[in-house]
Amino acid sequence: PRPPHPGLPAPPPLGTCALPPGTYDGSVVLVTGGGSGLGKAMAAEFARLGADLVIVSRSADRLKAAQEELAGLGGRVVTAVCDIREPERIAEVFDAAESALGPPSVLVNNAAANFPSPAEDLSPNAWRAVLDITLTGTWFMTREFGRRHLAAGTPGSVIDIGASYAWTGGPGHAHSAAAKAGVRNLVETLAVEWGPYGIQVNGLVPGLMPHPDLPESILRGLDRAADEGELALRQPALRVGLPRELGWAATFLASPYARFISGHTLVVDGANWQRRALVTPPVNSVREQLGRGPFGQ
Ligand code: HXC
Repeated sequence: PRPPHPGLPAPPPLGTCALPPGTYDGSVVLVTGGGSGLGKAMAAEFARLGADLVIVSRSADRLKAAQEELAGLGGRVVTAVCDIREPERIAEVFDAAESALGPPSVLVNNAAANFPSPAEDLSPNAWRAVLDITLTGTWFMTREFGRRHLAAGTPGSVIDIGASYAWTGGPGHAHSAAAKAGVRNLVETLAVEWGPYGIQVNGLVPGLMPHPDLPESILRGLDRAADEGELALRQPALRVGLPRELGWAATFLASPYARFISGHTLVVDGANWQRRALVTPPVNSVREQLGRGPFGQ
């Protein structure tokens, strides 16, 4: 077999931007789940390009730490403690953001719930928690954003963070996969309904992008590798992704350079999900990962 290319190009360093400096000067970007993980990484890329940020999370502590980190990058950073399952609280968050910074023109729906579980073990409440946060919470946020822009006659851009198992199904993650499939569909519907009013709606799907806030169980559950090195070698790109690579894609999708892109879901995963579709893990290995014995015994 042909050996892999010896010098696969490395991504640019942290702190470099994918767009001209100041692309987001004067813009307000609201990121749910912006206090940690990929949400914080995306928020950072918007900030480097001049955006003022509203970061939303259930955890005040996480928000405080993230605010300190993000404040050094450029624009102002406002925090809001909010459970996105509560529409009244969401309206208050938008009101507070508007009076502090002005109306957000970009909404990144990044907050999502997930944990691995055999489907049959999911309690009704566990199912509801994941669907309510991931799908319904995304819709509540988007609804508030959309209604305000429609009323004001102003354009806006929504980015919904998705997952490739929205297309393939997600063994061990039935609740999250169903929710993400709903999110993907919402992107396609809203892009058409709100297109004539200047509101773009796109999806953005991360590949394996390890970061300190990602629960180990989710990382391992997604690709049953022994360690990160093995995980990397299974990827078509021979490496895992970097959170900033998602951030660069997000800043492009919401930028003036992507005004004609709507209803699209961009996958930033080095073609890993097509690889996974071809090299399907044996069903018994999925069961083992979930702490179940093989079938037939
Ligand atoms: C089984 C669990 C559970 C677990 C919660 N529940 N965690 N069941 N295993 N690990 C059950 C509870 O027992 C309860 O059901 C119900 O879920 C609600 O739990 P609560 O703790 O009351 O709910 P809540 O605080 O609202 O939410 C908990 C949570 C949420 C759903 C676990 O905190 C969460 O998702 N945190 C992780 C966030 C995260 O890491 N997001 C990144 C996702 S990454 P009962 O019946 O007992 O009342 C991702 C990647 C996808 O999604 C990539 C795809 C390729």
